[in-house]
Amino acid sequence: MIQSLRGMNDIFAPDSERFEYFIETATTIAKRYGFSYFESPLLEETALFKRSVGESSDIVGKEMYQFLDKGDNDICLRPEGTAGVVRAFIQKKLDKQGGIHRFFYHGPMFRYERPQKGRLREFHQFGIESFGVASVVEDATLIMMLADILDTLGISYKLKLNSLGCQECMPPYRSKLVSFLEAVEEEICEDCVRRKGTNPIRVLDCKNGSCQERYIEAPKLIDNLCSCCDVDFSVLQKMLSENGIDFEIDTHLVRGLDYYSKTAFEFVSDEIGAQSAIAGGGRYDRLVEFLDGKETPAVGFAIGIERLLELIKMPEVERSGYYMGTMDDEGLPIIMKAAQAKRKSDKVIVEYKSKNLKNHLKGADKVNARYCAVIGENERNEGTIWIKDLVSKTEETLPLDAI
Ligand code: HAM
Repeated sequence: MIQSLRGMNDIFAPDSERFEYFIETATTIAKRYGFSYFESPLLEETALFKRSVGESSDIVGKEMYQFLDKGDNDICLRPEGTAGVVRAFIQKKLDKQGGIHRFFYHGPMFRYERPQKGRLREFHQFGIESFGVASVVEDATLIMMLADILDTLGISYKLKLNSLGCQECMPPYRSKLVSFLEAVEEEICEDCVRRKGTNPIRVLDCKNGSCQERYIEAPKLIDNLCSCCDVDFSVLQKMLSENGIDFEIDTHLVRGLDYYSKTAFEFVSDEIGAQSAIAGGGRYDRLVEFLDGKETPAVGFAIGIERLLELIKMPEVERSGYYMGTMDDEGLPIIMKAAQAKRKSDKVIVEYKSKNLKNHLKGADKVNARYCAVIGENERNEGTIWIKDLVSKTEETLPLDAI
């Protein structure tokens, strides 16, 4: 028997209902904040992710679904959404046009990771990207919007916040960190020794407990920010506090993608096991320029939909629509016509098999219909239909064209 690939899930009801509810909720909220829907291809040139997410990242270094297509082009399935949106933004010359552009998107992402609870090879994200606003107020707005989405879905979370500095303060900090790492080189893991040469700040994120113990004394980026980044980080914290958003500063939050500068954040849940990050994002002011566009400030985030599913509290589903059936086969063409007419405005499920009334009522209950409408011999002869309201428990017989 052919099975789905490892780490790639089918999503059935009731999870698919929660999935749909999530997309509807997040879409409604994104539109309220002025974002418009955006779609981009699942396949892109591999070079796009190498240059944006970064060759030293695990995502590009180990996890890409990369292959040559029939024209020998080096392409891959997108491991994340930001790079594609930035590529499209530049391709459409929106960078040259200037102004503010705000997009939201959702769809599958692919990472060849080791599957486990909360970690899939094909997973879905809902993402937001905002271009053209340098002010940290936009960062605050995005974080508030993400909190708004999670609050609406009844999901509790912790927000972790950090600043990764800018071109001015990051390089001197990096040198300080490298000096520190050289001093403790004997005591840290091989991966961290390697990271020291490729992307030193990644060491701060090392999962090895003894490395983490060493790094308690490591220089902190937030103590080494330039005045501009320092002011922005304070404004961000003040604005979040003023708007009732709790956060904790996590000086080791570096994010797994290379394009970030300044604000970095992650929303985590303690109810879903080891893979606790439900959303992450930050500012990436250099990326548009780095991908050959005109310098444009930008900030965004993405939510991992699968990790949220079990946490979503759905509103109770009320009975809705019609269940229609007939008590003999001659009634079927009549009920089919009535159903087609009613479907212009309402949900209708038709039972094709003729049954007695009791069984039709059971069927209506099973599909959670509000009304059970049935045609028997009498109704057929009189051009009427029997209807029971399963909420008020009232019943009546109406002329067929009255429904
Ligand atoms: P990310 O942190 O790599 O950021 O992914 C965002 C979210 O996707 C994670 O917090 C997690 O919930 C979910 N996720 C990641 N990998 C997996 C996996 N293997 N299985 C299930 N869920 C997963 C980004 O992708 C950035 N593009 C976010 C962003 C947008 N930054 C700026 N704009």
